[in-house]
This record gives sequence, C-alpha cells and structure tokens, in this order.
Amino acid sequence: MDLQEKKKLLEEIEAKVQACTLCPLYKQATRGVPGEGNPNADIFFIGEGPGKKEDELGRPFVGAAGKLLEQLLQHIGITRNDVFIGNVVKHRPPGNRDPLPEEAAACWPYLEKQVEIIKPKIIVLLGRHSLARFLPGKVISQVHGKPFRKENLVYYPMYHPAAALYNGSLRDTMFQDMARVPVILKKIKNS
Ligand code: URA
Repeated sequence: MDLQEKKKLLEEIEAKVQACTLCPLYKQATRGVPGEGNPNADIFFIGEGPGKKEDELGRPFVGAAGKLLEQLLQHIGITRNDVFIGNVVKHRPPGNRDPLPEEAAACWPYLEKQVEIIKPKIIVLLGRHSLARFLPGKVISQVHGKPFRKENLVYYPMYHPAAALYNGSLRDTMFQDMARVPVILKKIKNS
C-alpha cells in the first residue's frame, strides 16, 4: 500500500472516531483523539487513553506524559514524526479514570485497523491497559523491556510514561527499556 492510500485510510478512521458513539465516553469528551504520526512507521506506541490536554487538542501524548515520551524518543535519536502514536481508547475517560473493559473492547476495531494499515514492525505497549489488550494475562512489572513475538508482530511492553511521573524510580528503567527498541528493530529487519 502506498503512502497516499495509507493516509486516506487513516483519515477515514479519524472521521469515524470523531463521530463514534460505540461507547459512552464520547458524551463527556471534547473530541476524539484518533492517534497520529508516520503512516509508514516501524514503531507504533500505544497508550491508554487521552488525558485533559489530549482531549482539548485532539492529539495523543501532548501533556506531561507526552513530554517524557518525547524525551524517550530523543534518547534513541528519533522524534514523534518518525513513529505512530495511539491509544486503547480514543475519547477521554472522565476525570482520567481507567478505561472500562467494555470501552476498550468497543474501541478495539479502530486500533486493529490502524495497525493493519501502518504495518509497524514493533508495537510498544505503554502501560498495563495497552498490555492487557494485546498480551492478556501479562503483568507489566514482570514483562517490561521484553519483546514478545505474536502473529508476525513484535510487542514490546514498557511502563506508561505517566507512571514514571508519579514514581521517579521508574524513569531510569524506562530509558533503559527504550534503548533496546532500536536494537530489537534492527534484529527484526535483519531476520
Ligand atoms: N496518556 C495516555 O495513555 N495517552 C495519551 O494520549 C496521553 C496520556
């Protein structure tokens, strides 16, 4: 699929997200946050759901957690324009509560389609909600920094950047885990 076609299909998803009523989250949200980035990205980062700032701007990871994510990207010499960034749920859960399983399930087809279109080589699962959707049963404290191959894709769990904002001791771990991403990507490309 060429770049133009990918862009068109991703825009169709964006429009669907903005009009989505499949779960009640849209009712209290300002707008949808479909996700954004390079349609040809090798790396797809998947967080939990939009926070206050994301809800205001309609863009993923633009608040405090986003700043840390950008530093983590810089650590491996890339920017958010090189990757694709999305979330498990596309509308903000009220008061930043955890997304409910039924909300994540309702939103799943959008994420599935984005992955299908972008065809990343590695999906970085940011935090336990993203982990639970893709690798159910795994515990983030046990699997962060370890790649998992499943159906021709490599999943790589990491702590959520917001977790490191609350618990500073996770910060070093996150930078160490991020440093392995280009190493794993190189291995995938050479295999
Ligand atoms: N946290 C998330 O999980 N996603 C965002 O887009 C922002 C903060």
